[in-house]
Amino acid sequence: LQKQELLYEGKAKLVYSTTDENVVWIQYKNSATAFNGEKKADITGKGRLNNEITSLLFSMLTQAGIENHFIERKSETEQLVKKVDIIPLEVVVRNITAGSMAKRLGIEEGITLEQPIVEFYYKDDSLGDPLITEDHIQLLKLATPAEVDILKHVARKVNVVLSEFFEKKNLRLVDFKLEFGKTEDGRIILADEVSPDTCRLWDKDTNEKLDKDVFRRNLGSLTDAYEKILARIGGEQHV
Ligand code: C5P
Repeated sequence: LQKQELLYEGKAKLVYSTTDENVVWIQYKNSATAFNGEKKADITGKGRLNNEITSLLFSMLTQAGIENHFIERKSETEQLVKKVDIIPLEVVVRNITAGSMAKRLGIEEGITLEQPIVEFYYKDDSLGDPLITEDHIQLLKLATPAEVDILKHVARKVNVVLSEFFEKKNLRLVDFKLEFGKTEDGRIILADEVSPDTCRLWDKDTNEKLDKDVFRRNLGSLTDAYEKILARIGGEQHV
């Protein structure tokens, strides 16, 4: 299997076609962005860390019976994934108040929710990825009601598996974002990445933030935080 031409460049990844029409080659970049691209930096080691962490987490989710696009890690910064059509929705699951929800609703951060909350955001940079309702999803024809049910169901299942996994690593899964894609035969599977770029992870004892909030809020070294996550979840260490 060979890497072919660049199909798409996102904020954090490059996507290449391959000699297999059902497989794409992903390269994780070192760029960090926040606030819809307003804050940017190049951080050595970030691509390697997210590639490794995402690979470990997707393999774990596969073992837990959650179908996803991950095939294999190819190199420090590259992985092979199944080709899907990404549904332009960000599915956010929250266990503890933080981030945009805390701000929007005027509530304190760090309060454990009685029930996890699922939210949908419309993936559109020009609109700033707005929060949308299920009726808006119908209006924009982004997914059918049955597909929305699948997204919510799988997102909640991923939350149970990831929360239990991180709990054992002395980490609290505060919230996270998922993206889903459609395979050629019309199945909806988990795609994109699951990493400290897309999850909020707090140390269970100290509440130390070990995720992209370190970059968003200038709390210290992002790679130090991500290395800690990788070490706890059992990856190779590079420090
Ligand atoms: O900013 P907000 O509180 O809505 O983020 C909720 C979760 O979704 C966080 O874990 C954040 O890292 C993730 N997220 C993301 N990509 C975005 C927006 C949020 O991975 N574009």
